[in-house]
Amino acid sequence: MEISLKNQVALITGSSSGIGAGIAKSLSESGATVVINYPFPGAKEQAEAVLDEISGNGGKGIIYQCDVSKEDEVVKMFQDIIRDLGTIDILVNNAGIQKDAKFMEMTLDQWNAVISVNLTGQFLCAREAIKEFLRRGIDPAKSVACGKIIHISSVHEIIPWAGHANYASSKGAIRMLMQTLAQEYGADRIRVNSICPGAIQTPINTTAWDTKEALDSLLTLIPYNRIGQPADIGNLAVFLASDMSDYITGASIFIDGGMTTFESFSTGG
Ligand code: BGC
Repeated sequence: MEISLKNQVALITGSSSGIGAGIAKSLSESGATVVINYPFPGAKEQAEAVLDEISGNGGKGIIYQCDVSKEDEVVKMFQDIIRDLGTIDILVNNAGIQKDAKFMEMTLDQWNAVISVNLTGQFLCAREAIKEFLRRGIDPAKSVACGKIIHISSVHEIIPWAGHANYASSKGAIRMLMQTLAQEYGADRIRVNSICPGAIQTPINTTAWDTKEALDSLLTLIPYNRIGQPADIGNLAVFLASDMSDYITGASIFIDGGMTTFESFSTGG
């Protein structure tokens, strides 16, 4: 079976940089029309650069500013996309942030900011996407599924992470959100899955790879001995968005060079 997302509209939240930008490029290469979402005016240029690259390769898309943690902005974003592009077939719930702090020093603002974007943002976008999937129904010319949601979680949905209680909590919760939606809407043929990346070379974790010492230390956690790239995640997103994965729903797929094999146990335990 050929993987084609032709004539499907994909919204990728937080796709002006990092993993989101990589996913947008991969989905576009497979034929999807992509909506490059960015969070605030300052990120517009980056979003435009992602779209320029996509257009330069013959792809189609638009950019759209929306803070996914704000209900009114999310509702409006979906209305505008449906008005301008007809529908939404694929939602990639990718937007995510880190506000790291030792637990006792973590402020309520740091806690709330991460939960709002990483978890509430995924709730709000999934809710609007499911409404649209059910309104439109299955379009067999495009896909055998009624719609696809891909949550971008993390290895930290199962690996506890000292100094990142807000982030790890948000990712653990995404697993339950994803599985509950897969259960609730399976009979409607809506597929809901999570991608759980390990260390991917993006701006969110610059300090983990921007010096040789940092990278060497990071690689001790990765059996496959390389840092991941956004395109690694993009490839998996294409598969999960396509009918090739039609029997996969409610799954968390780890893509981490083996990080979740707990490398430190290779010489101990
Ligand atoms: C985090 C990165 C981290 C990686 C592996 C990701 O979810 O955003 O900062 O490098 O997990 O620990």
